[in-house]
Amino acid sequence: MGETTAEIALQNPATDFIAIEVHGPGVGSLLKKIEALALKNLRIIRHDAREVLDKMIADGTLAGIHLFFPDPWPKKRHHKRRLVQPPFAALAARKLAPGGTFHAATDWPEYATQIEEVFSTCAFFEKQSAERKDRPITKFERRGLGLGHPVRDLLFLRRQE
Ligand SMILES: C[S@@+](CC[C@H](N)C(=O)[O-])C[C@H]1O[C@@H](n2cnc3c(N)ncnc32)[C@H](O)[C@@H]1O
Repeated sequence: MGETTAEIALQNPATDFIAIEVHGPGVGSLLKKIEALALKNLRIIRHDAREVLDKMIADGTLAGIHLFFPDPWPKKRHHKRRLVQPPFAALAARKLAPGGTFHAATDWPEYATQIEEVFSTCAFFEKQSAERKDRPITKFERRGLGLGHPVRDLLFLRRQE
């Protein structure tokens, strides 16, 4: 619903953010927060994140990508729906500026392993150490923690060409 995104934008006024979400109520909720907090550094696009990255963002321009608690699609037959697959890592590498970062977090251990493998095998990325304190807690995360789910953060640096 945009709580974390609004918080991150508020804490980093010198950085411009683009939020991407397909869920209408979530978009509306964040728009309200942008107005209430008078945020000038946050915009939101209601569309599929892959298409936005591919078609609306110029190559080599992003300082960072945050992917916090992507849908885990726990059933094996649904794994193909997961956002993080090799073509997504290649897309992220194309859009990030050299030295930019990809930061993901998930409470689904097996998806964390998938993200780690996909980004570690993409030659454009170098793994960094990541800690949860580097970002505010999200709504989905709070629910997962209440259920005893372990949270993992993963950080990758976009190498220089
Ligand atoms: C599990 S929720 C996590 C929401 C939030 N990041 C949090 O931690 O509370 C995943 C969100 O990703 C959105 N989403 C899933 N696939 C997407 C896509 N391809 N493009 C944009 N948003 C997507 C869903 O609508 C949903 O709101």
